[in-house]
Amino acid sequence: MTDFKKMAVPGVQKLNPYIPGKPISELERELGIQNIIKLASNENPLGPSPLAMQAIKAEMSELALYPDGNGFELKKALAEKHGIDMSCITLGNGSNDVLVLLAEAFLSPEHNAIYSQYSFAVYPIAIQAVGAQHQMIDATSWDDEMPLGCDLPAMKAAINEQTRLIFIANPNNPTGSFLGQDELLAFIKSVPQDVIVVLDEAYLEYSSVEERVDGSLWLNEFENLVITRTFSKAYGLAGFRVGYCLSNPDIANVLNRIRQPFNVNSLALAAATAAIKDDEFLAKSMAVNAKGMKLLAASCDRLGLRFVPSKGNFLLVDFAQDAMPIYQQMLELGVITRPVANYGLPNCLRITIGSEEEMQRMTTVLEQVCG
Ligand SMILES: Cc1ncc(COP(=O)(O)O)c(C=O)c1O
Repeated sequence: MTDFKKMAVPGVQKLNPYIPGKPISELERELGIQNIIKLASNENPLGPSPLAMQAIKAEMSELALYPDGNGFELKKALAEKHGIDMSCITLGNGSNDVLVLLAEAFLSPEHNAIYSQYSFAVYPIAIQAVGAQHQMIDATSWDDEMPLGCDLPAMKAAINEQTRLIFIANPNNPTGSFLGQDELLAFIKSVPQDVIVVLDEAYLEYSSVEERVDGSLWLNEFENLVITRTFSKAYGLAGFRVGYCLSNPDIANVLNRIRQPFNVNSLALAAATAAIKDDEFLAKSMAVNAKGMKLLAASCDRLGLRFVPSKGNFLLVDFAQDAMPIYQQMLELGVITRPVANYGLPNCLRITIGSEEEMQRMTTVLEQVCG
């Protein structure tokens, strides 16, 4: 028999596939139970924005046609929102697509890319898939002022001649930890101009406007800065797969050369163009998240479970023992959370913030299992 794994390029042979959250339909099949809630993939409990739903319906009749490969309307709306030129925007099939494009465009086997321990699992996959070296830097400890976050001085020290990319998620997934403006800005300033800093802001919208660290405001200052954003979280469009990055036009031009010509589908383009104008929905998403986060954090406090203070739409909870039996018990009670042993956190589960009703149920289950 042919060994196809051996035929794969060396980087691909070594990488571990991404493990997604368990779908509701799978748990229904496995346990034959109904009324399941999924708090495993940091999705929006409100569903898509109503403006996006309207736009999707209007776009349905155009489905025989290819999408606008340049995504003009969406880029125009994004350019207005961010106050930048359309030439600075690259659209992606989710921001995941943009992360992969960055690795494909800027890394080859003689290069390395740096990222933090306990950060988004797609970074090492994207880096290894193109045969480059992935440099994982130990995260800060649980006792740090910001537990399980990026150790920026250590990341800086790891930069060498071969470094092309640095991936930083702020806020970070799966920990929820976040970097303050001063330390992040000082770090970006200290990075050589020919090393691209990718600031992944998938969860930016969940921090209050006053607390928000918005890297897009620094784009004029740093030509080596790339900001990635998504419509999957606060805008409730995860199923559509649409995200983007902001960068200087030269970087956007490079990414544009290798992206699939129609990498964002027409319904996603229409939905995102409408969603970006739906301020009311965004405000509601943030409010529901803040309320749910409070409920879950209070429940963890009551049970003596430590967690990482989070500025995302999820909480990383430490059960101080192997979390898999707890995960399993919760599944049997119809609640899907996310194990993070694959991130090196076997005692933790990541719990997405759902609707108020879902969080009431989550906290009841948590108290049942851990109380
Ligand atoms: C930190 C981070 N970045 C990027 C993504 C990718 O999101 P999407 O491809 O849905 O835009 C995720 C998804 O969970 C994430 O957690």
